[in-house]
Amino acid sequence: MTMIPPSLRSALRSLPDQAQEPTVNDLFVPTLLRELGFQQDEIFSQYKTGNGNDAVDKAARKTIGDDIFIHTKSEPYLLIELKGRDINLSDDAVKYHQTVSQLKRYLLAPNCHTVQWGIITNSCHIQLFRKHGKVIFPATQCVSLNEDNIEEVVASIRKKIENPNKALTLAVYNNKGGVGKTTTTVNLAGILTYLGKKVLAIDFDPNQQDLTHSLGLPLSNSIVFKALTDRDATLQSAIHPFVFKSGKTTLEFDVVTADLKLTEEPDHILAGEIKIDSLYRKLELLKQEYDYILIDSPPNWKLFSKLSLYAADAILMPTKHNNLFSLENAATAIKKFIPEVRALKVDGSPIALPIFFNGEKITQPKLEVAQKEINKIINIARKDKIDLLPYFYPKYTNAKKDLHIHQIPSYANIADAAFSRIPAVYKDKSANDYYKHLAKEYFIQ
Ligand SMILES: Nc1ncnc2c1ncn2[C@@H]1O[C@H](COP(=O)(O)OP(=O)(O)OP(=O)(O)O)[C@@H](O)[C@H]1O
Ligand SMILES: [Mg+2]
Repeated sequence: MTMIPPSLRSALRSLPDQAQEPTVNDLFVPTLLRELGFQQDEIFSQYKTGNGNDAVDKAARKTIGDDIFIHTKSEPYLLIELKGRDINLSDDAVKYHQTVSQLKRYLLAPNCHTVQWGIITNSCHIQLFRKHGKVIFPATQCVSLNEDNIEEVVASIRKKIENPNKALTLAVYNNKGGVGKTTTTVNLAGILTYLGKKVLAIDFDPNQQDLTHSLGLPLSNSIVFKALTDRDATLQSAIHPFVFKSGKTTLEFDVVTADLKLTEEPDHILAGEIKIDSLYRKLELLKQEYDYILIDSPPNWKLFSKLSLYAADAILMPTKHNNLFSLENAATAIKKFIPEVRALKVDGSPIALPIFFNGEKITQPKLEVAQKEINKIINIARKDKIDLLPYFYPKYTNAKKDLHIHQIPSYANIADAAFSRIPAVYKDKSANDYYKHLAKEYFIQ
């Protein structure tokens, strides 16, 4: 007689209300991992992450040829950080934030470079996170589990981990004008391509079309408009390759160029015809083709910025240390705009990446002035129980009060590059270095 393995529902039912971690581990996790598609020899418990003595509760990876994970322990794909039911993992709890930080530390650890997914669960709540290079963002909300929804929730997590998007989709945004959104998009596209990644940049600021012009590419007449308003139309014919040749090297990335049609229709007509998820949906297929999709956004909080943030996994916000509005606008985006979009999107994304300072010379006294302003912004947000610290000072910990903010200095060859229709990173060694640092600080592991 063969034993019928327990369903998720009956595994959940078998758990005592106050089950602690070892009980959840014994009665729930084997069924969870089986329903996520992993066999017993594809799972390793207390996997050493390579970071001090850190060990994550479960690591898993499907068998590749004769490479069986439980034997080789190489190239983990999924990590699970497990808690007992005595630990509250609802997303407003202190323990939730601590557990997410713990999972992030594991995901970024030396032995976990190949990991693409992380899960936290205590059997009452579960949340899936995606890791793309250095960027970790939610792939589901933190879901409260019960016997009625557990089969469906776990099946949808399995579907995601079996079909990961290749691309990280990034909106470059700040509703302050002139802080370097377009410059960042162009040079980041250039440097990521230079580092061997396949990149699509999108000019989603049709009023200015700066990205399109700075690369000397043709506008895409009505194609983007049609793609955003017609279910069956694609962005394909709006994609123009930007090709840079120097000696034997050829570097090439793709650009969805700006569409003037999007500026011709009155706002209320556009808002009626274009849905918040229009760009997100049109990018779905492209997310399997590219490593990075970068969206240059306009300096406002209107239709195109909203579509851009909705389409994104993460938001990169250039600011200027000497422009209070650019700092306050970044805080407003984190406190208000991004949560607004997240509430509509219901998959836990997008997230804000830490701000960086762009395009100014910063002396120590000026930096101290900027820090004072940032501290004020952080303290105001704290009154609303919002912690902005990680978005302004990502390296700050209680043990090490590090106020580091990444900088791209003011550099004439960055400003001049648009005249030659070539990204500065392809023309100038220092510009290449500045953006290589940016790419490595934020994205490349
Ligand atoms: N690091 C830098 N060094 C020198 N000049 C820079 C740098 N970054 C941006 N600039 C220059 O600053 C100006 C504004 O930059 P950019 O157009 O990228 O800003 P933006 O945020 O896209 O503006 P908008 O809000 O109008 O879309 C441009 O002339 C650009 O060349
Ligand atoms: Mg711009």
